Amino acid sequence: MTDYAPQSQITVLDTGGQYTHLIARKVRELGVYAEVRASETPATELTDRKGIIISGGPASVYEAGSPTMDPAILEDGHAILGICYGQQLMAHLLDGVVEKGTKGEYGAARLTIRNLTSPLLKGLESEEPVWMSHRDTVFTAPSGFEVLASTPTCAIAAIGSDAKRQYGVQFHPEVVHTRHGMKLLRNFIFDICGCIEDWEPRHRIPVVEEKIREAVGNRKVFFFVSGGVDSTVAYALCLQALGGDRVHGAYVDTGLMRKDETEFVESVFARLGATAFRVEDARDFFLSKLAGADEPEQKRKIIGEAFVDIQDKVLNSGHYLDQDWILGQGTIYPDTIESGGTAKADLIKTHHNRVAGIQKLMEAGRIIEPLSSFYKDEVREIGRELGLPNDLLDRHPFPGPGLAIRCLCSKENEPISRLPDGWLIPVHSVGVQGDSRSYRPVLAVESLHHESATELINRLTVVNRVIGLIGSFAPLDELSVRRSGLTAERLDRLRAVDAIVRRLSVSTGFESQVWQFPVVLIPLGTAARPDSVVLRPIHSVDGMTASSVPLPIDLLNQLKAELLEVSGISAIFHDLTHKPPATIEWE
Ligand code: XMP
Repeated sequence: MTDYAPQSQITVLDTGGQYTHLIARKVRELGVYAEVRASETPATELTDRKGIIISGGPASVYEAGSPTMDPAILEDGHAILGICYGQQLMAHLLDGVVEKGTKGEYGAARLTIRNLTSPLLKGLESEEPVWMSHRDTVFTAPSGFEVLASTPTCAIAAIGSDAKRQYGVQFHPEVVHTRHGMKLLRNFIFDICGCIEDWEPRHRIPVVEEKIREAVGNRKVFFFVSGGVDSTVAYALCLQALGGDRVHGAYVDTGLMRKDETEFVESVFARLGATAFRVEDARDFFLSKLAGADEPEQKRKIIGEAFVDIQDKVLNSGHYLDQDWILGQGTIYPDTIESGGTAKADLIKTHHNRVAGIQKLMEAGRIIEPLSSFYKDEVREIGRELGLPNDLLDRHPFPGPGLAIRCLCSKENEPISRLPDGWLIPVHSVGVQGDSRSYRPVLAVESLHHESATELINRLTVVNRVIGLIGSFAPLDELSVRRSGLTAERLDRLRAVDAIVRRLSVSTGFESQVWQFPVVLIPLGTAARPDSVVLRPIHSVDGMTASSVPLPIDLLNQLKAELLEVSGISAIFHDLTHKPPATIEWE
């Protein structure tokens, strides 16, 4: 793989924590290139690093099979910072003692610093708000280490040996809730490790272009683009490096996209000067394959297979598998790392990679991924520098299978039932608790309070979601679940309501305050108005967990007024459920 980044000064060893990538991103924000590697990477591969950070993780160091590291790293003079599990692992591999604490410590905590002259903690105050998430604790610091700080629950919340340049913290400096976390990271990477600033994504554009020219040689590049940020920026970089004649691309119109999406993608590529870009119209193909499908996994499987068929058709008909072509992809850094924290992610992408033709190109090394060293926010920065429009760069994430997973179906007509707490609606949606997926009906209530919804969901195990009624055409008692499938008519209806929600969300400024705002169509209504709309605005960092966000009252009233005017719509709801226990998408 071509490397588009400088030599790493800092390596973050991944012990499976959800914040591993966040640590590397924070180091990069300070202007120092950092990479993520598997925790057990041999010391011999890391000799020229200026510092090593060991990430947090969910395991217990004293249990067999838990993530560990090459102990030689602790002996070879590297500057080291262990965070959470990382501190525990250091202590355990040296001669410290780690045990389960008498109680856990989750969330905000007050740190009392004992040694404010420590190179790691200098500039901090004697009392600092920090973020904790642990039960295991270091009970005895390794010999030669000083205890630098504590909290009421955790006597050894930071340790250090200035002589060895090795430090550990139980709290998470990488999260915003730790007020001076960035100051601590800065102390570590600059003062303790001696790193120099070498990272500014925008300034890497000429280097990346040079590498693209080297890797492509006198061949040409073909892309499948999705309309998302990554594939568009990757395409733009190749265009700039190679010129319009040598970069070709196709966008598959599945018919499962939002209103005007195809036109938007076309206009973006036209503005980029992409002359050899085309739209493959596969709307009828996808719709015919999806006829009769109503369950989430069934829909996903059909869509994945349809993608494979269309991609193979495009590759073969354009002769893009011939020797003078290589394949471009918008893969970004987190996608290249296998880590415990990476999601089920991206079904469509998995399928892209399973296309036989693409598999062959990958095996032959005929693939180019110019963004493989960059995080999402860095990709946006590059896109901005290349002059891509903000309405593309600042888009919310949109799932590969598109509106198909936001258009719920039902095999039969079914009544809803009155419960003491609300109405049980037999439309099943997907949820997630622990590692297991649930598929359950939803509870509709009349209040829009998140707290009472959370209380209900904890108490009623028959449902995995609670939705609050915003408004309806007829009393809820008169509505029922209607037999329905993924039809062109219902997809158009969903597109119409989604476009209204997006317009109002953008014009009120709400759009930029939330991470994602799915709009879901459920088959609940009357014969004349067979569907209802569920609004699902959420906050999230990476989609792995999410919280449902209240709708500002003005927006709520405008949405209610406009959406109930759409033909076929009976009621409007707000999904009040966090993830877990519900997923973001309904499927
Ligand atoms: P869930 O519903 O699992 O979604 O809570 C988490 C995040 O992932 C997005 N998502 C997808 N993105 N291809 C994608 O590119 C997919 O197949 C896919 N499924 C879910 C979802 O929109 C949310 O942001």
